[in-house]
Amino acid sequence: MATVTAAAVVSSTEARTEGNSLGALAAGAVVGGVAGYVLAGQMGESAADVEEKFATYWPRKCMILFGAPGAGKGTQAPKIVNVLGIPQLSTGDMLRDAVARQTEVGKAAQALMKAGELVGDDVVVNIIRDRIKSDDCKFGFILDGFPRTIEQARALDKMLVEKGECVSSVMAFNVPDEVLEERICGRWMHKASGRSYHTNFAPPKSMKKDASGAVIADTMLDDETGAKLYRRPDDTPEALKKRLESYYGKTVPILDYYRPRGVVSEVNANQAIDKVWSEVSHGLQ
Ligand code: AP5
Repeated sequence: MATVTAAAVVSSTEARTEGNSLGALAAGAVVGGVAGYVLAGQMGESAADVEEKFATYWPRKCMILFGAPGAGKGTQAPKIVNVLGIPQLSTGDMLRDAVARQTEVGKAAQALMKAGELVGDDVVVNIIRDRIKSDDCKFGFILDGFPRTIEQARALDKMLVEKGECVSSVMAFNVPDEVLEERICGRWMHKASGRSYHTNFAPPKSMKKDASGAVIADTMLDDETGAKLYRRPDDTPEALKKRLESYYGKTVPILDYYRPRGVVSEVNANQAIDKVWSEVSHGLQ
């Protein structure tokens, strides 16, 4: 069950459950545990009905991934998505997409991002406000790179409270600054999915080096699609310095904003990627 989304579970069981209260009961249990069992079992409803009830009446999960640039949020996020069955919303990915498409937002954000500066609060708050209205967020969402300022955190609270919701967990990835430059400067990305690779720590299967030991750019291909990987313009030592200034000056104070609510958990992200995942998956439980 850990590798399928709730929606996938529902649709894959739907055929079996239609007009079959026992099947709907099973699907309900998959979707929502005991409550789903009761809903589907007592009323003989379809899995789609049960899904709709959960989307309407149960609070959405709102998880925040927190950590410095290069801490490993984007590396662990796809695995968390698989387990929780809710989407990862990365403001960085959304802004990079806007830059690539040269939308108004993209044009305004481009230079700021390249220099490692934060984009304006209003811009990212509006992006998130719209995005969490999408159908795929009806059971919840995982925020990666948002909120990054106290103002953004307050704006998020406001939009959640309007729906009777709140932030359910903040997972902080702890890494000493010394390791971040190597992580950032060795990173290669797959544009379409946001998958990140690293020349030393997570190389793509296709990676080859020349006689001098330098990576051959043409051999940097995504493992799943074979598409060419690219390097982010802000993955430079100079931009990292700026990104860390923003992180400590504006983003770290957010943890104290959330701590009194008892929703913050910490992960030691300064260990091998699979060991970090062990801690993360334990934290999800
Ligand atoms: P964003 O895209 O959010 O970048 P970031 O926060 O700087 O985070 P990164 O993506 O760099 O770090 P990550 O933790 O995801 O690292 P990863 O897992 O890839 O933001 C970019 C810019 O957009 C901002 O600077 C700002 O301009 C703008 N922006 C975005 N959101 C905004 C907001 N809310 N408000 C205002 N502006 C906003 O890992 C890094 C590398 O390390 C990879 O190569 C990976 O393979 C490797 N690695 C990962 N884990 C390990 C490990 N355990 N051991 C060894 N290597 C590892």
